[in-house]
Amino acid sequence: MKVTVSLFNSKTKDVAIVIDLLRASTTITIALNTFNKVIPVNTSNEAFELKNKYNALLAGEDNLKTIEGFDITNSPKEVQKHEGDVLVLKTTNGTRVLENTKNNNKNVTVLIGTGINANAVAKKALEIATEEIEIVMAGRHEKFNIEDATGAGVIVKEIIKSAKDQNIPLELDETALASTILAKDEKQVKELIGNSWGATKLTKLGLEDDVKLCQLINEINEVPIYKNNEITKL
Ligand code: MLT
Repeated sequence: MKVTVSLFNSKTKDVAIVIDLLRASTTITIALNTFNKVIPVNTSNEAFELKNKYNALLAGEDNLKTIEGFDITNSPKEVQKHEGDVLVLKTTNGTRVLENTKNNNKNVTVLIGTGINANAVAKKALEIATEEIEIVMAGRHEKFNIEDATGAGVIVKEIIKSAKDQNIPLELDETALASTILAKDEKQVKELIGNSWGATKLTKLGLEDDVKLCQLINEINEVPIYKNNEITKL
């Protein structure tokens, strides 16, 4: 089984795990505790239409600012206070990457992973994939960011553990290997995420509780899957 890590643009035809650690993947994973589905969108108009159609809660940010007319921002902490059928989510990078990944190949299985469900998503990806698991980092404005690379490393390490338990041979490319060096241990993971540009900015905006939730590892066993333009629990 090949394990690769890419940035923004997915190439796999098999299983992709999309990670936008701060904060879209974490918001989505936590939201599925209290919502049946999350519908990611890329424009506010789409979100408003879906609000009328499903009586949905609207969550979203535009360059980290809450969008006018939305109920909450893209916040894993805020989303925990709400429940319902549909959550509509619009974010700057994360929701675009989901769409890119699906557009790359319509047969690809798109899972959503992050630190908080790393072990669960690693196990599911190994179960489903036949030849490749690609971790697709959202990054920031199509450029590398350290929190997604570190989170990718946390997931790759979980894939290595599960593969070993099941005697599945793995072939890690150099990006996957590099990500495991970033995710050396829990202390380093926490520091790299906490000191990242994104976390510093969120903390300045008073959103340090969101950062803390995004630093958690293996606390949720659910795996979100993106299929037919919506995200549900696998
Ligand atoms: C994004 O998709 O750009 C992020 O999740 C930004 C954020 O809300 O922290």
